[in-house]
Amino acid sequence: MEKRASWNSKIGFILASAGSAIGLGAIWKFPYVIAANGGGAFLFIFIIFTLLIGFPLLLAEFVIGRHGETNSTQAFSKVTGRKIFDIIGHLGNIGVFLLLSFYSVIGGWILLYVIRTLYALLPGSGTTEYDELFGMLISQPLYALLGQFTFIALTALIVMAGIEKGIERASKAMMPLLFIFFMIMIIRSVTLPGSMAGISYFLKPDFTSLNGDSILFALGQSFFSLSVGFGGMLTYASYLKKDADLVQSGITVVGLNILVTILAGLAIFPATAALDIDNAEGPGLLFVVLPYVFDQLPLGQLFYLIFLLLFLFAAITSAINLMEINVSNAMKGDDTKRRRSVVIVSLLLFIVGIPAALSFGVLADTKFLAGTFFDNTDYLVSNILLPIGALAFSLFTGYVLDKRIAEDEMVIDGKYRGLFKVWTALLRYVIPLVIIVVMGSLLFK
Ligand code: ALA
Repeated sequence: MEKRASWNSKIGFILASAGSAIGLGAIWKFPYVIAANGGGAFLFIFIIFTLLIGFPLLLAEFVIGRHGETNSTQAFSKVTGRKIFDIIGHLGNIGVFLLLSFYSVIGGWILLYVIRTLYALLPGSGTTEYDELFGMLISQPLYALLGQFTFIALTALIVMAGIEKGIERASKAMMPLLFIFFMIMIIRSVTLPGSMAGISYFLKPDFTSLNGDSILFALGQSFFSLSVGFGGMLTYASYLKKDADLVQSGITVVGLNILVTILAGLAIFPATAALDIDNAEGPGLLFVVLPYVFDQLPLGQLFYLIFLLLFLFAAITSAINLMEINVSNAMKGDDTKRRRSVVIVSLLLFIVGIPAALSFGVLADTKFLAGTFFDNTDYLVSNILLPIGALAFSLFTGYVLDKRIAEDEMVIDGKYRGLFKVWTALLRYVIPLVIIVVMGSLLFK
């Protein structure tokens, strides 16, 4: 019988969940998605979706996870006694696997940048042609695959060792540092001459720039960046003790995630405006723009190195959660299979992720549907599988899960009773309607 681990402290759970949420979604993906979708209006829609849809779904995952106390493909039958609902967990399991297969490509880029920046610290070896450097690094198959492989291996090592103590301790040290570094970057970025245009681009909504696609992107981004819709938060909550306050934990995670998203935007857009860099740089925005910003600081490359390490940490704390979903489902509660499960999942991830890793080099011209292999995997996960998973979570929690279970998990001595009612109504009516309308409108476009 499985002896389930549990978090050492409530703050450990909150930081690990925040670590799962805060990652490439907020720091890397958001700035270029917002740039492709009209700036401030997208930020506004994203925040509304996060509060009205992402947050209730996060609570739904917490409730099912803590009550189920098992992996995400068995939790649904465990809390209802009906096997059919485990299909929601299986869907999430597939979605998260595909997600991690391209996530690790970007994780690999960060690793390459760490090495490159270390090297640039040596006298005479720095370059300031960041556009070229980025293009060169990600288009070389050897570098791209090596980076992706190493990122998966690092994640695997942590998941293999069991993560609570390392993650809890490291999160407490690293998360505050990430914030401090963002503050330094923001101060530098907004004090560059000409930066105001970037701030207004980021914060001033222009709703005429939104279309159906951008609304779908904002919806997908709110799931992606909160790690909801595939059972990641469910998995973490399954290790949570009964005395933790789910609502308070959820509010903290959502608040930190929105904060980091805004900080990332404030660090990057004033700088792109000041340095006259095209916001439509796409996935490379962060890797091309930030080195310029750091170059304007004394000891810039050293600061950039520290930032990259924190960024890497943010990506890894998310990746661990994503991999843990697959691994816990593969082990089915038998922890003696952890090592083997991690190795198999990792190898499969690497193989399935190869086309995504090569999408910026030898496969850059192989395009279909949404673009390259990378674009297609991202599109499939973020804009189709995650919204479908989220829809399933909301219908399940709103209509199938026994209300008393949910109430018992969420309401503490009468506290949050009002919120509980609003939450139930959102899950039953508002969230399904919004997801169906947004996805449906694209089908009939
Ligand atoms: N929530 C994770 C991220 O945003 C997947 O990176």
